Amino acid sequence: MERISLNYNFVSDFLSEQEIFQRFDEAKEHLKSLINKTGKGNDFLGWIDYTESIQSDELYEIEEYAEKIREKIDILVLIGIGGSYLGTKAIIDMLSHSFTSLLPEKNNPIILFAGNNLGEDYLHDLLEILNYYEYGIVVVSKSGTTTEPAIAFRILKHHIENKYGKDKAKERIYVVTDKNKGILLEIAKNENYKCFYIPDDIGGRYSVLTPVGLLPLAIVGIDIHQLIQGANSLRSSVINNFTKDNIAIQYALIRNALYNKGKLVEIMVSYTPRMHFFIEWWKQLFGESEGKENKGLLPVGVDFTTDLHSLGQYIQEGKRILFETVLHINKPTNQLIIPHDNENIDKLNFLSYKRVSYVNNMAMLGTILAHTDAGVPNILIDIPSLQEKYIGQLIYFFQIACGISGYLLGVNPFDQPGVEAYKNNLFALINKPGYENISTAIKKRLNEKFKLP
Ligand code: PA5
Repeated sequence: MERISLNYNFVSDFLSEQEIFQRFDEAKEHLKSLINKTGKGNDFLGWIDYTESIQSDELYEIEEYAEKIREKIDILVLIGIGGSYLGTKAIIDMLSHSFTSLLPEKNNPIILFAGNNLGEDYLHDLLEILNYYEYGIVVVSKSGTTTEPAIAFRILKHHIENKYGKDKAKERIYVVTDKNKGILLEIAKNENYKCFYIPDDIGGRYSVLTPVGLLPLAIVGIDIHQLIQGANSLRSSVINNFTKDNIAIQYALIRNALYNKGKLVEIMVSYTPRMHFFIEWWKQLFGESEGKENKGLLPVGVDFTTDLHSLGQYIQEGKRILFETVLHINKPTNQLIIPHDNENIDKLNFLSYKRVSYVNNMAMLGTILAHTDAGVPNILIDIPSLQEKYIGQLIYFFQIACGISGYLLGVNPFDQPGVEAYKNNLFALINKPGYENISTAIKKRLNEKFKLP
């Protein structure tokens, strides 16, 4: 299978080969400790082998249940937040028509999301839409206790039961959660919902290639076998490759060397709007894995050429703390030729019969040159095309590179202790049982610090 590749020629003005590979031996050891599960956070490394060990009959079971719900619905509502929805949305967007919901004929259900925010208007509007369509729900929460999806599920559960009746609603609700614990599991057992399980040793942001992503992806018609095969193809090229050719090691080393030279912000760039949410997924993966102990690159995303007309100025001439990683699709899914125009009032005939992607590629090359000239190193990741197999590769690549990167930084890339701070304050402020003792103190502090009632 053809593979994604990494080109680091565009960092050569900033890092010598020797600087890039200065910590190569350490990176090799970190890769080994990921494989042998001996490093920090080693109880969350199930994803390393999961795609290899998942059996085809497990995939077929997912597809079988996907088919059962598909035939009943126009819309699938995926309830989940963070690692429980970002990867799924990313994959669907990369593989779907840019205006799916407006296509006159649809072969697959449309996916809408809930539980990824607390916007009252958002949920209100969603319920309004769901009054008009046949729909089903997949609710994903590993802990089974996360506030945003829990509230969304309570509201949607009421809605779907009112619409179809309690018994019929059960056939339209699937749950993906932990096998042994959590309130969501309790609800699922109580209501007899079909459950799929997230392995204990896989954390949210590393879970898209488990039932977390596979189930909703299969429901909207994505080839999950190809996705898994793609991940495994990349896996076999990096997992036992302790040479300088290993692209996961290369990426981890380059970003670490740039970080140590004061490049504190990594901007992930794509030249197609279809990858917008893939960058969101990447931001969570690296932000939550590395941003701790007062360390870590800030992961930022841009859609070019769109954002060249907003953030382009800053990247070109602002504070020199940036580097970019560019996701380049070699072959767009579709072809579009710029037509010839006899009048040529727009003076664009020099582009007649050229593909739009030709102009896009030239914009990319011109931008890389402009940005590297201005002190912004670029790493280029080449993706043959937006197909399941390459997307599987890309996901596995970033996950393994993230593990190595986190270890190079000296942090545990598999926990997220910082996420608890806002949760504790929120629970205290909404008077969640169990938080009474800190509730008064927090309200008092808010009042003293910010004069808030
Ligand atoms: O990566 C993570 O662990 C988080 O982003 C979680 O995915 C997110 O907080 C949702 O958690 P849960 O699936 O337990 O509802």
